[in-house]
Amino acid sequence: MKTRANAPYKITVVGTGYVGLSLSVLLARQHKVYALDIVPEKVAMINRGQSPIADRELEAELAGGGLDLTATLDPEEAYRDAEYIIVAAPTNYDPEKNYFDTSAVESVLRAAVQAAPAATIVIKSTVPVGYVERVRKTLGCPNLLFSPEFLRESRALYDNLYPSRIVVGCDMASADQRVRAGRFAALLQSAAVKQDVPTLIMGTTEAEAVKLFANTYLALRVSYFNELDTYAEVRGLDAGRIIEGVCLDPRIGDHYNNPSFGYGGYCLPKDTKQLRANYADVPENLIDAIVAANDTRKAYIVDAVLRRLALLPGDDRTVGVYRLTMKTNSDNFRESSVQSVIKGLQAAGVRVLLYEPALTDTSTFLGCEVEKDFAAFAARSDLIVANRYDECLAPVRDKVYTRDLFGRD
Ligand SMILES: NC(=O)c1ccc[n+]([C@@H]2O[C@H](COP(=O)([O-])OP(=O)(O)OC[C@H]3O[C@@H](n4cnc5c(N)ncnc54)[C@H](O)[C@@H]3O)[C@@H](O)[C@H]2O)c1
Repeated sequence: MKTRANAPYKITVVGTGYVGLSLSVLLARQHKVYALDIVPEKVAMINRGQSPIADRELEAELAGGGLDLTATLDPEEAYRDAEYIIVAAPTNYDPEKNYFDTSAVESVLRAAVQAAPAATIVIKSTVPVGYVERVRKTLGCPNLLFSPEFLRESRALYDNLYPSRIVVGCDMASADQRVRAGRFAALLQSAAVKQDVPTLIMGTTEAEAVKLFANTYLALRVSYFNELDTYAEVRGLDAGRIIEGVCLDPRIGDHYNNPSFGYGGYCLPKDTKQLRANYADVPENLIDAIVAANDTRKAYIVDAVLRRLALLPGDDRTVGVYRLTMKTNSDNFRESSVQSVIKGLQAAGVRVLLYEPALTDTSTFLGCEVEKDFAAFAARSDLIVANRYDECLAPVRDKVYTRDLFGRD
């Protein structure tokens, strides 16, 4: 095995979503990378130098053509002689089992360990606490590490070029594992543009906990400012002034405090629920409350919209929903909170009209009509609901209901 972090390695990244594609591009600046997926369209796009994900840095790097990156559907080509195999397959939350569905990760691990038994396999997917220790034994993967991924979907490649920290989990009792973990951390360090990235090597179970506790803190913070905002709105107070006053305390800080319709996205909803499941026999109140607070907030927003609607004249009214996305400048609306608001309004019998430019190939979504023309959308809506305010709404500001107080994500 090569020992220098900057030697060109053959690295296989499995899954070309936000995590896998950003890592593939990051590492293909210095190494030979194979990006393995099961979706032919994604593989074809990447090999044409196009990004299946809307992300300006990823698009520019792929279009630039300076990467040693091959996307493939062929596990044999991908795994042959691989020195590192990075797993970035999905781990969706299974509502029946109340646990992550880790079957995609397991099918990758089985194939990878058989095809390249000497490779260091690193799970980047978010997994339940205690998962790696278990599968290392049950699947016979002695060279398995876990490294939590902290990227934001809107800045996927940027966050790997300028990481907040690098965390690698290994079996701390094994000298071989500690060496592999150190080498993988060095690989990520040398791929980053940022120098002196704080780096932690720890047990795999602790590293898994780092990921779920970090996301659960973010969900807690979102929920806290959302509940502050609910209180202020119900009591007729100026939520913005209260938040400013609260956040001038440097221990609290003036960031990540803009009210919204609830936390959403692919990760926070599922990661909070997984951490709650990991607490099964451990006393807690807060983790449960974070999950419940988000449902309460979304239900409150539905009620607030219905109350406003009731004040309008007539009874044949349309609520326009301006964008499905969680964040400004995003085209991704996986698990976005506004979708729960739409469902709540529909359950109350309200007609919902949607404006979402990212929906190019459909005229309906969640059973509501998609209006492609913004002017027509604004004219046809009696009330416009926007999780994030946009200047284009200024001419119809008096129709808009939003809790976006600071114009930021
Ligand atoms: N999106 C984020 O911001 C983020 C951040 C940190 C961690 N994570 C975690 O990383 C993991 C991946 O997240 P993502 O957002 O990149 O997911 P994604 O859904 O965007 O991408 C997953 C990719 O894996 C592919 N895939 C599925 N099964 C496969 C298989 N058996 N073999 C090969 N490819 C397969 C899919 O086709 C898809 O391209 C999840 O566990 C997630 O929780 C995500």
